Amino acid sequence: MAQPLLNGSLRKKLQGYVGFANLPNQVHRKSVKKGFNFTVMVVGESGLGKSTLVNTLFNAPLYPSKEHVPLSDESPKTVGIQVLSTDIEENGVRLKLNVVDTPGFGDFINNEDSWKPILETIESRFDAYLEQENRVNRSKINDLRVNACLYFIAPTGHSLKALDIEFMKRLHKKVNLIPVIAKSDTMTHEEIAAFKERILLDIAHHDIKIYHAQHYDCDDIETINETKDVMSKIPFAIVGSDKVIETSDGRHVRGRRYPWGTIEVDNEDHCDFVKLRQMLIRTHMEELREFTNDIHYENYRTEKLLALGYQQDHTVFREVDPLAKLEEERALHEAKLVKMEQDMKHVFQQKVQEKEAKLTQSEAELYAKHKEMKDALEKQRHDLEEKKRRIEQGRPTTPEKTKKKGFGFAGK
Ligand code: GTP
Repeated sequence: MAQPLLNGSLRKKLQGYVGFANLPNQVHRKSVKKGFNFTVMVVGESGLGKSTLVNTLFNAPLYPSKEHVPLSDESPKTVGIQVLSTDIEENGVRLKLNVVDTPGFGDFINNEDSWKPILETIESRFDAYLEQENRVNRSKINDLRVNACLYFIAPTGHSLKALDIEFMKRLHKKVNLIPVIAKSDTMTHEEIAAFKERILLDIAHHDIKIYHAQHYDCDDIETINETKDVMSKIPFAIVGSDKVIETSDGRHVRGRRYPWGTIEVDNEDHCDFVKLRQMLIRTHMEELREFTNDIHYENYRTEKLLALGYQQDHTVFREVDPLAKLEEERALHEAKLVKMEQDMKHVFQQKVQEKEAKLTQSEAELYAKHKEMKDALEKQRHDLEEKKRRIEQGRPTTPEKTKKKGFGFAGK
């Protein structure tokens, strides 16, 4: 049944199947066809296991394994910002995964500006996207914006270092910041719990905004609990290893072996690695992409365009009142008619003036011609009268010409 007009729109209850409920499936098909881009950045002090975690996370040897490096060789460090890309396909869904590995910092005497190249990388990717958006043809935008930044915290058990706070403060408004406790296999469960608490207090104290996974009203209870569970683990205490080892009970798992036992990367009782991967890849990848686009990129874009002198237009969108719209259109039409009439009048007057000017000119020409002819006739009449007088007086009809050349008085 139709309900009364609300803000000018008629609310109707559907009587049958229309079909737009299939929209999510259409979006799904289109997205699957296009594939997805996801970019993760790893940031933290040198040697905290960033490269190892990247390999562990995507279960692919994006980096040559750094474990069991011969004693003579030093474990290879990441020098300069490295970008690794790989195409992953799962159940027909294509994911282009980009990992931005940043060189570990903290090795220098002065580490003050070590955040700069990292921030520049994030911003240059925003710039590249903005530039592509402004092109005439936007059909192929290569989105390399950083969707998540894993910030590695050293497993010290103390509070956050000044350098960590500085880094996070510089990055938190540009990227989805996800703090992780590196090499958590070096701490006991109790130490980890206390360390997590201290880190969160520090983060709140310094007003650092880290990524907070959302759940929505439409989510089922299972999803809501899952999200809450994931959130309760932040900062994730992680262990990285891309080596498969055999446990005492004969299972083959990814982990690290110690004299007193093994730490399994994929065991939720041992570390939070599974929860981190679940959030990044399985449950919140799209939200991370969305936050990147809607919050971080949008803020960056606004700041950038305002700095370039662009002004926000002041158009206020309002509900359309059909009667007012008709009235507006009618007034516009009338104004158009009035203008047309004025234009026509103007053209007519112009034409009349031109014609009048032409007539005046031809009248003047006629008058001049008439006067010329009249003068000529007058002169002719005068000549004839002179001739007649001479004939009557017996004088030659034409005045005597000078007999001798050069003397005008010869005839006198
Ligand atoms: P930079 O390239 O210098 O920034 O180092 P990185 O942060 O990428 O660390 P990398 O992955 O190179 O690991 C450094 C060392 O730590 C290697 O010997 C790894 O085997 C080891 N390692 C990595 N992850 C873990 C972990 O979770 N626990 C322990 N105990 N060692 C780890």
